[in-house]
Amino acid sequence: MKEIGVGLLGFGTVGAGVVEGLQRNGDLIADRCGVRIVLRKIADLDLERDRGVTVDRSILTTDASAVIADPSIDIIIELIGGVGIARDLVIEALKAGKPVVTANKKLLAEYGAELFALADENKVDLKFEASVAGGIPIILALRDGLVANHIPNVYGILNGTCNYILTRMEAEGLPFDEVLQEAQDAGYAEAEPSLDIDGHDAAHKACLLASLAYGFPVPLDAVYVEGIRDISGEDVDYAAGLGYRIKLLAIIKKRGTKVSVRVHPTLVPDGHMIASVNGVFNAVMVSGDIVDDTLYYGKGAGRLPTASAVISDVAAVAQQVSTESSVHLPAFIPEGGNHELQNIEDVECRYYLRFSLMDKPGVIGRVAQVLGDHGISIASLVQPSQQKDDYVPVIMTTHGAREASCNQALKSIEAMSDIVGAKTIRYRIEDFEDPS
Ligand code: HSE
Repeated sequence: MKEIGVGLLGFGTVGAGVVEGLQRNGDLIADRCGVRIVLRKIADLDLERDRGVTVDRSILTTDASAVIADPSIDIIIELIGGVGIARDLVIEALKAGKPVVTANKKLLAEYGAELFALADENKVDLKFEASVAGGIPIILALRDGLVANHIPNVYGILNGTCNYILTRMEAEGLPFDEVLQEAQDAGYAEAEPSLDIDGHDAAHKACLLASLAYGFPVPLDAVYVEGIRDISGEDVDYAAGLGYRIKLLAIIKKRGTKVSVRVHPTLVPDGHMIASVNGVFNAVMVSGDIVDDTLYYGKGAGRLPTASAVISDVAAVAQQVSTESSVHLPAFIPEGGNHELQNIEDVECRYYLRFSLMDKPGVIGRVAQVLGDHGISIASLVQPSQQKDDYVPVIMTTHGAREASCNQALKSIEAMSDIVGAKTIRYRIEDFEDPS
């Protein structure tokens, strides 16, 4: 059977998972692909650490450039991470005419336009299945499985750390800080967790999903991001009382020519499938104009789930290389028509608002008046019978309203210092309505 040589740059957790996956299931993969994937070199700065897998020491090197230049290596796997040396090496490999498989969402979200253009110029693939939702083959689904569809909506729980924290806060009634500490102790959350909990990791992934869905590189700064750091147990409980769960949700929508991409804490109806995605799991729901709704669920991180996605890309490229196919398709294929990236201020959605208001006559009327003046209609209103000093929480949900109107209304309400005790808490609600 024909052999295709692979070079691995970065022998960390996922790198070791790729080695284990190829060792365990190499024969199966070869049978399925009609070509054998042979790991010829592994580059890492640390050649001593035990990774829990056995490799022939002769394939280990600290010289990543030598791996790229090695003529027996047909495909480069980049699992170094970050946007420094990883970017330089991906550029070097593409310029050398070698296809690259990466799990590096940050690199692609920040430098994708440059790197994908370079891949096109050199007519080689730059593949990234593992960069979004780990082991879930969502890139393959969007590119191939749903090729017949225009995509009005993509919803994703794309960060396992955040989903774990929110699930624990809800199930155990624990505060955010305590659950974050617990997640760090259990190794689910990084010691420096801001990439995850401030929403940036999910934004990188949303950026890639939107680029795939609509066929152009969506700039990262077009993605609106809010994290979960400030979510309180109080709001988790009030949301539950209203029949919602709070999830860090990536929401990608196209209406007419307008495309919006956002990541923020979102109230989702308790009965919806997305609401039942718990713990470190990820899920992506994609609607297509032909297929209707589809849902993908699985492990979004971890050594073997991520390795499964990396190997899937390697296998696809290996088959192409082995047949000497000259077909190279761009990563993002335009779907035709115009696209206009929508600012969050122009997005319309429903809101959950928790006011802190004086408990005296006429206060609700004044707040409702301001909302009404900005065209915001109240859908529900609850004043739980608990008292904090002179102020009480008042929880409202609204009907659909423009973000800009909501911002202006909240600013006016907060200026009413004679009746308002604290900044209003605002979360967006997603009801997953059919766009048609
Ligand atoms: N840190 C990510 C998460 C996994 O918590 O989901 C890697 O993308």
